[in-house]
Amino acid sequence: MTACELVSPQSTGSAPGPVDQSHYRRVLGSHPTGVVVITGRGPLGMSCSSLFSVSLTPPLVGFCPARSSKTWPRIRETGSFCVNILAAHHEHLARQFAGEDEHRFHDVAWSAGLTHMPLLREAVGWIECRIHAELDGGDHTIVLGEVLALDAANQRSALIFHHGSYGSFDGS
Ligand SMILES: Cc1cc2nc3c(=O)[nH]c(=O)nc-3n(C[C@H](O)[C@H](O)[C@H](O)COP(=O)(O)O)c2cc1C
Repeated sequence: MTACELVSPQSTGSAPGPVDQSHYRRVLGSHPTGVVVITGRGPLGMSCSSLFSVSLTPPLVGFCPARSSKTWPRIRETGSFCVNILAAHHEHLARQFAGEDEHRFHDVAWSAGLTHMPLLREAVGWIECRIHAELDGGDHTIVLGEVLALDAANQRSALIFHHGSYGSFDGS
């Protein structure tokens, strides 16, 4: 089968029409991502797959919280956030930080970073940021953070999210 035969009829019409939401989710779900927990002083935290790198000079990263998020406005009030890149064995944390607010830090090992934000133990990487800008992103907000400090434990495999399932990539 060729690549062309795999293209859905929804994407081959000559005139663009309204985008079906489940089709949008299915297509975007075919793009594998990592999973991060955005933490803030509190401690506060929420799982996100929308992390992206933006700029080296100045150093900026971004992610997109839903406008309906209850956690992001509370983190925003503190003026800063930390990106915790989850490791392959952190699937339970990805679920926990998307679940009930009061249980998110239950049994979670963390320490305060240089800027006093929660750094999750055994994460693959940590990026401490000051909020740089918030832009309109439809039903989400595009948050840009100026990187203040960052580090990584590169020997660890990251957690990967693809088609709604969790996995990892051993590099082989
Ligand atoms: C793997 C995964 C990725 C997610 N990515 C995002 C994301 O990029 N943006 C977002 O707003 N929510 C995302 N969520 C959902 C949020 O974690 C969850 O809905 C949110 O924490 C709701 O809680 P809140 O109202 O306290 O913010 C994701 C959840 C999971 C499990």
